[in-house]
Parts: sequence; structure tokens; C-alpha cells
Amino acid sequence: MVEELIAQLRALEGEGREAVAGAGAAADVERLRVDLLGRKGRLTGVLRRLGELSAEEKPVVGAEANRVKGELSALLDERDAAFASAAASGGVPRVDLTLPGRARWRGGLHPVTQVVDEICEIFHDLGFARVRGPEVETAEYNFTRLNTPLDHPAADMHDTFYLQDGVVLRTHTSPAQARVMEMFQPPVRVVVPGVVYRRDPFDASHAPAFEQLEGLAVDEGITFADFKATISSFVRRFFGPGAKTRFRPSYFPFTEPSAEVDVSCRICGGTGCSACKGTGWMEIMGSGMVHPRVFENVGYDPERYTGFAFGMGPGRIAMQRYGIPDIRLLYENDVRFLEQLS
Ligand code: PHE
Repeated sequence: MVEELIAQLRALEGEGREAVAGAGAAADVERLRVDLLGRKGRLTGVLRRLGELSAEEKPVVGAEANRVKGELSALLDERDAAFASAAASGGVPRVDLTLPGRARWRGGLHPVTQVVDEICEIFHDLGFARVRGPEVETAEYNFTRLNTPLDHPAADMHDTFYLQDGVVLRTHTSPAQARVMEMFQPPVRVVVPGVVYRRDPFDASHAPAFEQLEGLAVDEGITFADFKATISSFVRRFFGPGAKTRFRPSYFPFTEPSAEVDVSCRICGGTGCSACKGTGWMEIMGSGMVHPRVFENVGYDPERYTGFAFGMGPGRIAMQRYGIPDIRLLYENDVRFLEQLS
């Protein structure tokens, strides 16, 4: 008998809890209060049977009945208060809808990829198409067609990752010059972004695998002046109207004359800082007028056509743009770093 009544009380407690939690309005709470705890309610129904118990049994069931009553009436009060406060705020739930939402992490483009896209867009406006070349190249295209015999000292700098005899991970994007010229007749204007591989140490300014971006323009009558104008206009658009450009004589086997192009340091504004090693200038590319022998190698008439070519490092350019002191930060794939730039 005692067990039966206690079981009934517990069942009432469980059902009551669920019903109160499911109440959708203040009126539901009121109805439940009557149903559960009212004079003709279910708890009273159980208590009525108390008379059938002995004097020792009564207080046991009575105590349990009081506990259940206290429990349910606290829950009912709580729900009542919640509906009352919602009503007080005009029925509007107490949530501040003007708070900014919680941003979901969406991922983004790598800063070097962003820079590559931006560079390609600027050159697109200047009439250059974006193309790709193979990352696994033949030594023939990587060196020989570019007027660089394998025993030339310039090939040393590129001594690198050979996969097998005559096949190499490209050391620069320049082999794409030869591939494009063999496929198309002038006029040719292309940019070729892509990863290149070199036997370089992994330090603050070098990486053994890094992004390069080749440019090539060939037509009748192209001069060094066209080259300077093209590059200067690119630099002003990419780095801002105040950016200055400087051309320094250099050497590459596949261009003649050759030049390194420097941009006034964007970090110190040209006064000299640690990023530009105190010079006020940052080197952004190697370049020059396409060597006549390269034209011969690809079947272009060097008497008829001239052109310019350049190879820049978007990683270095990204460092300049964002003031990144160490190139390794770009290649470690630490999202905490990368997401600041996307
Ligand atoms: N390929 C050269 C390098 O990687 C850069 C370059 C490209 C120079 C085109 C001249 C013309 O260093």
C-alpha cells in the first residue's frame, strides 16, 4: 500500500514536470496548477487514500506528498514568472536582437593567392591572359630552351630537385615562356602564376617551394620603354600612386638586357628599415628583353619580334603589402596567422 502510493506520487511528479515544461502560455500553467495541486486535483486524489494507512505509514507517504507538492508548485511558479515577464516586455522575448551575430568561421583565400589574383587582374586590364605551365618540367624547357646550357654557371643557382634524368621540379615559371611561344604566334601577352622549387634554405626570406609569377609580352616593335611603362603602371596600381620603381642592371641567360626591378619600400616609405635592409628599396622581380636565342629556340623570327619578360615573387610582395617580417609565416599554415589576412 505504502509502495503503491509512493509510486503514484513519483509518477505524478514526472508527468507534472513534463506538462509544466510544455506549457505554452500563462493559462496553461493555471490549468495545470488546478489539475495537479487543486482541491479536486490529482495530488489530492492520492492524499485521500491516506486514511487507509496505519499511523506509522501515514507520515511516510505524507512526507513524500509534501515533497512532490513543493517541487511542482515551484516549477509552476517559475513558469508563471517567465510568462509574466514576457508579458511585461510587451510579449517580446527577452533577447537583445540588436547584438551582433556570432560570426561563423568560413575559411578564406591564402594571402599569397589573394596577391596572385590581384596581380593577374591588373595585368588582365593591361591585356595579359592568365595561363599555367607544368610544375614538373623537363630540363630542356627549364634550362636549355631558355638559353641556359646545363653546364652554365646560371644553372648552378637552380641545382635542384631532379625526379629522374631530364625531369625536374621547375625552378622558375620561365619555361612557360617557351611553351606559350611554341603554341601561339605573336602578339603574345600572358602571365603565368605557379609554384617553383629550389634548393634554398628555409629562412626568413627564402623557401624551398614558393610562388612565382611570370610575365611575357612579344610583338613587333616592343621596346624597353614599353616594359618600363607596363611595370611602372602595375606598381602604381598595386602599391599605390606614390610607389616608385627602379630598374637595376642584372643578368639572366634568357634576357638581354636584363634588369632587377625594385619598388620603394612600402614599410618605411623609402627611408630605410629592417625589411629593406636599410636601402629604402625592395626587389620584386627579375626581368629583361627576351633574348634573340630564345626566340630562335621556339621558332620566332628574332629579326621581326621583340618582347619583354619578368618573374616576380608574390610571396615577397605579400610580405611588403602586409608588413610580414618572415616568409615562413606564409607557409606554415597556421590559421591564427592566416585568418588575419583574409
Ligand atoms: N626566372 C627568373 C628567376 O627565377 C626571373 C626572370 C623571369 C628573369 C623572366 C627574367 C625574365 O630568377
